[in-house]
Amino acid sequence: MRASLRLALVSLAAALPVAAAMVATTAASAADEPTPITVLTSDFEDGTTQGWAGRASEAVAASTTVAHGGSGSLAVTGRTATWQGPSLDVLGEFEKGTAYTISAWVRLATGSDNARLSVERRTDGIAAYDQVVGNTAVDSGRWVNLTGRYTLATDVDFLRIYVETASSTGDLFIDDVTASYVPALPIQTTIPSIKDVVTEFPVGASITGAEIVTEHGQLLDKHFNSVTPGNALKWDATEPTEGTFTYAQADPLVAFAKAHGMAIRGHTLVWHNQTPSWVFTGADGQPMTATAEDKALLLERLENHIRNVAAHYGTDIGVWDVVNEVIDENQADGLRRSTWFTVAGLDYIRTAFRVAREVAPHAKLFINDYNTNVPAKRDKLYALVAQLKSEGVPIDGVGHQMHINVSWPSVAETKAMLDKFLPLGLEQQITEMDVSIYTSNGESFPAPPADRLLQQAYVYRDMFALFRQYEGEITSVTLWGLADDNTWLDTFPVTRKDAPLLFDTRLQAKSAYWGVADPTKIGTSTSPPPTTVSPSPTTPGPTTPSPTTPGPTIGTTACSVTYRVTGSWQGGFQADVRVTNTGTTAWTSWTLGWQFPAGQQISQLWNGGVAQSGATVTVANASWNGTVAPGASASFGFLGSWTGTNPSPAGYSLRGTACTVA
Ligand code: XIL
Repeated sequence: MRASLRLALVSLAAALPVAAAMVATTAASAADEPTPITVLTSDFEDGTTQGWAGRASEAVAASTTVAHGGSGSLAVTGRTATWQGPSLDVLGEFEKGTAYTISAWVRLATGSDNARLSVERRTDGIAAYDQVVGNTAVDSGRWVNLTGRYTLATDVDFLRIYVETASSTGDLFIDDVTASYVPALPIQTTIPSIKDVVTEFPVGASITGAEIVTEHGQLLDKHFNSVTPGNALKWDATEPTEGTFTYAQADPLVAFAKAHGMAIRGHTLVWHNQTPSWVFTGADGQPMTATAEDKALLLERLENHIRNVAAHYGTDIGVWDVVNEVIDENQADGLRRSTWFTVAGLDYIRTAFRVAREVAPHAKLFINDYNTNVPAKRDKLYALVAQLKSEGVPIDGVGHQMHINVSWPSVAETKAMLDKFLPLGLEQQITEMDVSIYTSNGESFPAPPADRLLQQAYVYRDMFALFRQYEGEITSVTLWGLADDNTWLDTFPVTRKDAPLLFDTRLQAKSAYWGVADPTKIGTSTSPPPTTVSPSPTTPGPTTPSPTTPGPTIGTTACSVTYRVTGSWQGGFQADVRVTNTGTTAWTSWTLGWQFPAGQQISQLWNGGVAQSGATVTVANASWNGTVAPGASASFGFLGSWTGTNPSPAGYSLRGTACTVA
């Protein structure tokens, strides 16, 4: 991450409120990741380079000077450029659409610097570079781990992972490099599509190349009818050097959206982040200042950028975030002191809207910002928009990012945010919604706690219910991501696993999904999200089983169980279980128990709640599949681990009554 971006993100972090109290949490073992499959290990213990090579003239060699594990590592010497470093061919190893976790240990021979883990890919000889792990401080005194996720999203004829540094060209070592993946699960095809349930406005997701392939693409297509390229249309992606426009990242995303009839939000033409430094460098090579000359050059670059980018997409992009995050409520005038502002004043905003309207007259033009529910910020944004509108600046709408969390903000504050802008007669869109499971920067959970996931479901339920009351005013709601396997909140504002979206890391519907798709399925809590401190919800949802609490009587019990292993791989498996009511009385709840014969362990279960103690497994119904009429069935599925053999359970019982094994 570049320093300028990091600074800005820190300032956003500082702006996010921190709850005064923490909620008691229980770890949800059901959300644990299953055992990953390792496709690459380079430990350099055999005295060879294990296929690693330099990227240019630098030399790589097995070394015993230092080692992370064992006694060997790989030494890289003779580097003459920062991008030179050890690289490994993974073409044929990495499959398109699979999310790999890549881990490498790095150490410098002398001094200190930042190191990055990257991928170079080529298609028909055209190279592109993806960052897997951004700048990470490294030095000569210790080994530093670089771990990141990477999904290849395009067909390639060249694919190499490599380690590079940010500024120095000294010798370095790498060791214990691994790449692994967790097998994808099929998406759930029989659950309602969000876009069919929510018909008041398009519902979107922000996407990268990884979201349009294989299962991710299917999930996107099933539930969403709008997309926002998350990074691909930003300045650093579209005009990395002056006058050189490249649409290699965004074009495939736009093509996917068009092919699937989805609306496209263009994000973003002007921002202070992810904008190359050349934009703010004057003709004299110095950082721009508030001179007439620098201002003219900056506005000229701005105009040229918008003309090219907006024209490239023509009518394909129906909405543009013309300017992003221009408000700073701590300034008396409410305007962020970005270089845009310090060099050009408000004219950068006026110019951006004027040029965007001219080049894309069909498009709705938006001003987009975060924390717009915070009254001080909301009011400063309102004042700016009112002023610009009165000047005749062509603004069509206000975008509320809605990066929120499970305990903030309240529905009332969010409603006040929407109401504030009604008098301006503008469109409003929710542009980047996600609901962090964390309520302070100090928290970190190894797996999302069940109570946080349920709180999150209530937030999604209540916020969507609110938005849907504003049909006509709210013209789009977009989530900042598709599923929890790829969310910017994993590294912002601190690095920790977050789970802010509707689908989990394996693309399965969370309670949050049901909060939007069918709130009757997440229990009956009517408590609105609290304003500052989150209460523990008392109503259990689908991920909160209570297998030991007897439910309503289930009449003359007779049952039959089908247990089917639907997929199996080294160490892991997936199974489907169907329990059929073969008695004469309807069940209003059920609890199924069995013993695993060979030490199998459930790591994740859907459509029910699981408790496992040793070999004993108990699965209780989810809130929506407890009622089973005579002759009808309920089904659930799970992921598990196994070693040695993986035999099916010998028998099952429904609250003490043995079931027949089908
Ligand atoms: C984020 C992206 O999701 C990340 O991948 C990137 O590293 C940083 O930017 N507000 C915005 C978005 O307007 O553009 C940001 O997107 C999230 C905050």
